[in-house]
Order: sequence, then structure tokens, then C-alpha cells
Amino acid sequence: MAGYIPPHFIDELLTRVDIVDVIDGRVALRKAGREYTACCPFHNEKTPSFTVSREKQFYHCFGCGVHGSAIGFLMEYEHMDFVEAVEELAGAIGLEVPRETGSAAPSADRGNQDLYEVLEKAVDYYRHQLRQHPQAGQAQDYLKGRGLSGEIAADFELGFAPPGWDNLTSALGVKAERLLAAGMLIRKDNGDHHDRFRERIMFPIRDRRGRVIGFGGRVMAGDVKPKYLNSPETPVFHKSSELYGLYQARKAVRKLERLLVVEGYMDVVSLAQFGVRNVVATLGTATTAEHLQRLFRVVPQVVFCFDGDRAGREAAWRALENALPVLSEGRRIRFMFLPDGEDPDSLVRKEGQAGFEQRLENASPFSHYFFEALSSRVDLGSIDGRAQLVEQARPLLKKLPQGVFRHMMATQLAEIARLDAAALADLTGVPRPRTGSVRPAPVAGTSPVRRAIRLLLQRPQLAEGLTELDALRGLELPGVPLLQAMIDLLRAHPHLSCGAILEHWRGQDEGRHLAHLARLPVDVPDEGLAVEFSDVMSHIASLHDEQAVDRLLAKSRLGDLSDEEKHQLKQSLAAKSGSGA
Ligand code: CTP
Ligand code: MN
Repeated sequence: MAGYIPPHFIDELLTRVDIVDVIDGRVALRKAGREYTACCPFHNEKTPSFTVSREKQFYHCFGCGVHGSAIGFLMEYEHMDFVEAVEELAGAIGLEVPRETGSAAPSADRGNQDLYEVLEKAVDYYRHQLRQHPQAGQAQDYLKGRGLSGEIAADFELGFAPPGWDNLTSALGVKAERLLAAGMLIRKDNGDHHDRFRERIMFPIRDRRGRVIGFGGRVMAGDVKPKYLNSPETPVFHKSSELYGLYQARKAVRKLERLLVVEGYMDVVSLAQFGVRNVVATLGTATTAEHLQRLFRVVPQVVFCFDGDRAGREAAWRALENALPVLSEGRRIRFMFLPDGEDPDSLVRKEGQAGFEQRLENASPFSHYFFEALSSRVDLGSIDGRAQLVEQARPLLKKLPQGVFRHMMATQLAEIARLDAAALADLTGVPRPRTGSVRPAPVAGTSPVRRAIRLLLQRPQLAEGLTELDALRGLELPGVPLLQAMIDLLRAHPHLSCGAILEHWRGQDEGRHLAHLARLPVDVPDEGLAVEFSDVMSHIASLHDEQAVDRLLAKSRLGDLSDEEKHQLKQSLAAKSGSGA
């Protein structure tokens, strides 16, 4: 059984591999000064904003914000999980990944591997039945009747679940327990079980990495219910985040620029047959924020396709609401509504690829649909109606991430409602200017603690020469525990790169905070880093003294200072007035 990978191995691994080699093998990098650049592989762009720093062992895109270590890059780019990325890097330099035994390591990975294998066998079985089963003719006729070519059926690995209650256990040579866990059998009340899918056309569902995670099955006769049957939730199948066709779309189109989200499996397959390959479908559920996160990792633009009827409009609005929190800069969603009575499958057959893609071009931008839908519910000609519009839009806009897009949406709301933009200040995402305060608000990233962290991320070796360590203990400022932990880490492991430091806080808020700071360039030349760091640490030390004085002063107001404390306070105040003069 695999145990945990010990953290020291991650440190060692990230010291031995070079992120520049790792990325350059996958994305052609060009040297630009001390860094390397390329057009970002995670979003579509014409001028390079993706940078890789050998010094920091860190990559970052100024365009879409992705960033991380060599491990993080493989996870994003190759869609690996953490362990796979570590194994890949280790393998490349001939290292064996050690495992800490004894600790109760989760064996989920091994368990899931087993499910993938069972499901892969089921794909083969159903595909085979579509060709060989005595009743395969019926299934083939159904697919032909729906206008699908053999080629596209093979592309999507369509299959046939023949009649019968106990085909899988006997044909696959797999224990019922494993098939149950994979969702392929249904357990009856008496403990017995039978095949879930019978007499259906089978659509295997693969995750973005190509592993089979479940199936959709469609009846062939018009009157059988339910029309579609899906795998149940299992450890590998999660309807609320998986998308049918994503794997095939990525395989078919080398550089996807946008993805179209439709409702049905058949829509995906049929559009693909007509050459529209950038299409995915949800698995019989509404589009969730997780779906969108997943899509935005692949493309910067998502187009939703809905029926033009009431149900379609309701589904579109639900998708819009779910999309709000993930609509950060650079991400776009648009809405496409089909004529009544049509679905993408029927439409592409009538209008062909060109006609369908023309409709795609004409899809409504998010803001357009948003304001159109909201405006249609109120009377914009009246003050009341415009007030209603603002009240309905306000909570929705507040769900957008703060930033330019939200600002623009708020400005547009102000225009439509004929409101002064200041009246919507809470929506614009830009903090209100503070009045009556003479001190300018501190610029983000310039608190001395943050500055110290940024300098350490730039040159971790600075921690070695540190003399003001005690200053940190007991200092009550945001970020101090993290700075302290970084210093402790770097004193024990002086050779860690910025990327390796980040790995120590993978998946934690601290890690995200550090990554954010690592992305900001440090505006100090190399030669000046040490001096700057020592200045910042002295500054922090002086804050420590100030806090000590404040504490003593507060205590003295209560009249309970000890003699020693009185002495301390006196000295500190004297020192302060001396140095401050
Ligand atoms: N669906 C489902 N369960 C059902 C009906 C539908 O899970 N009982 C899901 C399926 O993912 C299906 C999608 O909803 O692909 C759309 O269903 P629907 O519009 O009814 O069918 P179509 O996709 O048009 O399928 P077809 O053209 O094969 O009739
Ligand atoms: Mn249909």
C-alpha cells in the first residue's frame, strides 16, 4: 500500500529538477532577460504573458493569473493529480518516490484505479456488443436512424447494453462488488443485484484525462422511461463537476478557444459529426460553478446553448447565477438561444456546420443577456421599475469577483437605471475613497511583513544572515506567523527555491497568499536585496518595540506595572524620543 510522500522528498525533487526544462519540453519558451516567456498555454493570447523564472522555480501568467511550481505546472498542464506530478518529475530524473510507511495513508487512489479498470472493461464490452450481439441490429438501426455515422460512433465509443439482467458479472469476469462500486449494478432489497443498463445505447463518459468514470444510456424505443439513465454518483463520477465530451473536444481540437455547453449527449455527438467539435454537455444537471471552473481551465470563453422556450430560459438564468462567482477578468460567457422546438442536434442537421457556427458567433454577451433578462421583468419607464431593477441586480453583481468586469457591469446598471454611478459605489468593486483622513491608505504589498516575505521569496538565502529573529516573537501583526514559519523552514533548508517554499503550503490559504506575493516583482536590484531585507527586518523590530511600549502604557493606565516594567517603559520611551528627534 502506498504511503505518504515525505515532504523532504518534495524539497529535494524541486531542488533537482529545473522548472524551465519541465515547461520547455511542453511549451516552447523564449529567453527574455532573466526569465523565460511564451504565449500562455492556459488561455488564448497573441502576445506572451506567461513567464517562467529559473531563479524562483516559479511560473506565472500575467494574463490569466495561473502560477505555481514545476509540480503545479504538471498538475495544470497535464491534468495530473499531485502524486502523479511528483512521480512524473521524479521519473524524469531517475528518482524513486519514497513512501512513508506506517502512517495511515489514504488508499483512495488505489481504490479508484480499480474502478477505472472495471469501467474501461465495460466500455469494451458494450462496444463489442454493438457489433456482435444477436440483437445488435436494433441498436445499429437506431443510431443510423439518428443519422450517426459509424465513424463518429466509434469516435465516441458508443456501445450497446444488450437485454439481460446479469451480463456484466459473467462477461467481464469481475466480482459483483467491484461492479457495484463502479455503479454498473443495482443492488436489490434482498441483497441480490442486476445490471443497471439494459437494452440501451451506451455513451461512455470520460474525465478530462481520459479515464472512464461512468455512462449515460439511452433507450431505443420511444415509450420506455427514463429516456436517459446515468451512472449514479460513485467515488469517480460526480455529475456536478464532470462534462460529457470534454475529453473528446480536447483531443479533436489542438488549441481550443471556446467551448459550447449543450444539454444532451446526442447533441455533442451529432455536432461533432458535423464538424463542430468544441462541445460539451452537462450530465442531466444544471451548469454549476464547478463545471465552469473546469471549463475555464481549458478555454477563456464558454458559450451556453439553451432552448428558446421557457424551460430553456430558466435553465439559462440558473447557469448565469452559478457563473457569477467565477467570472473573473479574462473569462467570458455568452448565451445562445435556439428557435422553438429545435435542439443543437436537429439544428445542425438543418443548417450544417456553417449555419450553426454563425449562430454561435451571434450569441449574446453576458452583460447583454443579464440586463435584457432583468429589464424584461420591470418597467424601465418608471422610477419604481428602475429602482426594482437596481434592487434585483445588486445582489447578483455583488457575487461577481471585484475587478474591472464588475465595475463595468455596475456602470452599465447605473446608465440603464439613470443613476449616478456613485450611488452604486458599493458595487463597483473599488473601495470608496476615505474622507477626512490625512494619511494615505497603505499601498497593498508594502506592509513591512509582506515586504519581508516578498524579499524572502525572491531570495530565500536571505534568511540565513538574519539577526533580528527575536523581533518576530510576540509581534501581533498580520502575516507574522507565516513569516516566522518561512524563516524557520529556510533556516532548516537553506536551498529551497520559491517554488519549493510554496509547496510547503499547498492547498492552504497561506500557500495562496504566498503565491500572490511571489507574483509581484520585487523592485530592488539584486545587489540591494540583502540591505533592503535587513532594513525591513529592522523596521519590523521597531514595530515590536512599539507594540511592547503600547502594551506597557495600556497596563500602566490600569496602574498595575511591576517595577521592572516601569523601568522598561521609561527606557523605551527615552530611546524613542532620542531616536525620533
Ligand atoms: N437526461 C437525463 N435523464 C432523462 C432525460 C434527459 O439525464 N430522463 C439528460 C441527458 O443527459 C440528456 C439531456 O438530459 O442528454 C437532454 O435530454 P433531452 O433534451 O430529453 O434529450 P436529447 O438530448 O434531445 O436526447 P435525444 O435527442 O436523444 O432525444
Ligand atoms: Mn435531441
